[in-house]
Amino acid sequence: MKKSITLILCGFLMEMNISAQNAPQLRTDNIDEVMKAMTLEEKATLLVGGANNFFGDAVVGSSAERVPGAAGTTAAIPRLGIPSTILTDGPAGVRINPTRKGDSKTYYATGFPIGTAIASTWNTALAEEIGHAIGKEVKEYHCDVILGPGMNLHRNPLCGRNFEYYSEDPVVTGKIAAAYVKGVQAEGAGTSIKHFAVNSQETKRTSVDERVSQRAARELYLKGFEIAVRESQPWTVMSSYNIINGQFAQGSHDLLTKILRDDWGFQGIVMTDWIGTRDGLPTTTEVQAGNDLMEPGQPKQVKEIVEGVNSGVLSIADVDRNVRRMLEYIVKTPTFKQYPANDTPDLNAHSAITRQVANEGIVLLKNSGNTLPFSASINTVSLFGISSYEFMSGGTGSGCVHTPYVVDMVRGLENAGIQTTKELTEIYRKYAEFAKLKFEADRDPAKWFQRSEFGQQKYPEMEVSARCVMKEAKQAAAAIITIGRQAGEGIDRDINTEFCLTEQERQMIMDVSNYFHQEGKPVIVIINSGSVVETASWKNYADAIIVAWQPGEEGGNSLADILTGKANPSGKLTMTWPLAATDHPSTRNFPDINMPIYNYSESSRVSGYHFTNHEEDIYVGYRYFDTFGKEVSYPFGFGLSYTTFEYSKPAVTIKGEEIEVSVSVKNTGSRAGKEAVQVYVTAPKGTLEKPKKELKAFGKTRELQPGESETLKMYLQRRDLASFDESQSAWVVDEGTYQFLIAASAADIRCSAPLKVSGMTEKTSNALAPKTEIKVLRLPKMN
Ligand code: BGC
Repeated sequence: MKKSITLILCGFLMEMNISAQNAPQLRTDNIDEVMKAMTLEEKATLLVGGANNFFGDAVVGSSAERVPGAAGTTAAIPRLGIPSTILTDGPAGVRINPTRKGDSKTYYATGFPIGTAIASTWNTALAEEIGHAIGKEVKEYHCDVILGPGMNLHRNPLCGRNFEYYSEDPVVTGKIAAAYVKGVQAEGAGTSIKHFAVNSQETKRTSVDERVSQRAARELYLKGFEIAVRESQPWTVMSSYNIINGQFAQGSHDLLTKILRDDWGFQGIVMTDWIGTRDGLPTTTEVQAGNDLMEPGQPKQVKEIVEGVNSGVLSIADVDRNVRRMLEYIVKTPTFKQYPANDTPDLNAHSAITRQVANEGIVLLKNSGNTLPFSASINTVSLFGISSYEFMSGGTGSGCVHTPYVVDMVRGLENAGIQTTKELTEIYRKYAEFAKLKFEADRDPAKWFQRSEFGQQKYPEMEVSARCVMKEAKQAAAAIITIGRQAGEGIDRDINTEFCLTEQERQMIMDVSNYFHQEGKPVIVIINSGSVVETASWKNYADAIIVAWQPGEEGGNSLADILTGKANPSGKLTMTWPLAATDHPSTRNFPDINMPIYNYSESSRVSGYHFTNHEEDIYVGYRYFDTFGKEVSYPFGFGLSYTTFEYSKPAVTIKGEEIEVSVSVKNTGSRAGKEAVQVYVTAPKGTLEKPKKELKAFGKTRELQPGESETLKMYLQRRDLASFDESQSAWVVDEGTYQFLIAASAADIRCSAPLKVSGMTEKTSNALAPKTEIKVLRLPKMN
């Protein structure tokens, strides 16, 4: 093995020498010429990530010498003036090492709000603004592409990476992602929309077969990606680790060529996700399928491509096609354009953006008797919950950013002029120190997800005695309890301890509520989590409930803005909050919580779990709860404000292919505020069964002063009304009258208007057909 690699290397170097003097140097206008000058080995090298240096396997996070901590690189071919480009995680900011050996300078990057928080703003302009800021940091830190946005669907609340993703709905996902991509790319840096596709669980992510109908795939799991590709042309797409209907996504010609390029017109490159190669999937198949770049890159992959061409297994035309795309990508990059990076992005300006976006993404779930915003008399609060002190600005794994600081709740409140009770704050601070030390001591580096570079950790709650709570209730004007959850790459969430509150947390809420209410003082619960938690069993104990998500480094300041009314909440949920996790039909087919979790070294040895049947089919999230009339704790699209809005004069018109929905929104309350408006559509009865209603468009008003109105106009295309008909491999719009429901949430329709639409059929390729029959959920037949 070593010998043959050495032989290839020698041949390669010799050839380089022979042609070095008159080799063309890559320019934007001489790609043909450069390709003619490339040897087969050079072509193969370019298709394999730059960690391939012929001297050993890549290690994620250490492959980029130019930028320590960046996830990967593309290979350089100096003879032809082809530089190495740098790929960095993503998506909540630039993930690079904050310090470097022998260098006193620091390289912290802004910790922006996580994906779910950005989506909860329902404000594409803000997503684009974040994109601009991230694009600038990518360039200033000598990188070329941010590995994001994460676009997998929240199929189930237990997925460990939901925090990186946007929603259970593909329209929210696609529109927010497209805006983020536009922002980054307008700065001249690249994006990688990921993980393409059907990667809505972490358990066995490198080997699980996601068995899904073509209809659910097209309408849900692929739809967000389709919107992002059509609307923003990301430079790159990252193919996921998993199998879809029997075929690895990374080696699926159906997915990466027929759907992505032929049906949607994608122009950029596809790169693989990172962990090594897939069992039984030849690199040659990946090249043929349309995977242009193998990341992080291994020497054996270069060899395999060269041998594949020499033996006729792989055509040189396929190699050339991918090489051309690689070169077209490279000439766009900041590195190729010699961007004068200075390693000094404007972190102050970007922290202001995180605060603004977090403020709009925070969701107010409950506000009994106008508990919030705080009146001026609330100037001292008791702060419960370890996460108030060890506030979580983001998730773990590759989605964790090394932020320069995190504003916790104590600091955030203090900055807003609210003190926390001294004794309790001191006890918690001491406990937090202890919990961190204990965590460090117990940390098992063999478990990769416990390694420190995988980011912020969640520490166990501190026991708070009833006596202590009683004392606090006498001193403070209100209680704030922060319930924190941490999750990330590689592990799904546990129902009992992560989706549900622990007994200790529930007890804390009950005790605090009991003693503070005895004193006539309010209790506010803040949920500092990237994903949904159970609320039904305890929500009656709280006067106000705020979902902070993981709002980025300015978290405490953003929460103080909301608590004091400096900012009026306007975020809304982008996923259903069910009564129980088992209410989601997908939980039946979500990996069992007692299954061995994914582990790098054990992945191929863990047996007993090989596929996920998507029996719920198109009934994901509100599409299920709505259509089947199932009660929820908080519906999709829900979020309160400190003011009220009235919707009127709805109008829906069609001109050519474009449908315009307009509605007048008036602020009828006494505070300035913004309103996120949702447009759902109920289709006429056609041949296919459909969900009761589906989100088709959304918009957000500007900040409206009391009494002020705005006419909001939202747009969609006629083809957006289509369902996917597997029998014809086509998107089909049934002719008839569609009801447009203009709503404040999926459960709060404010007004509606009908529209007569003529039918249409748009043929697509017949791709990703399931190999086994899946028994899918359908509505019971009515007599
Ligand atoms: C993750 C990707 C990430 C990549 C590089 C993978 O394990 O799934 O989201 O971009 O690593 O760090």
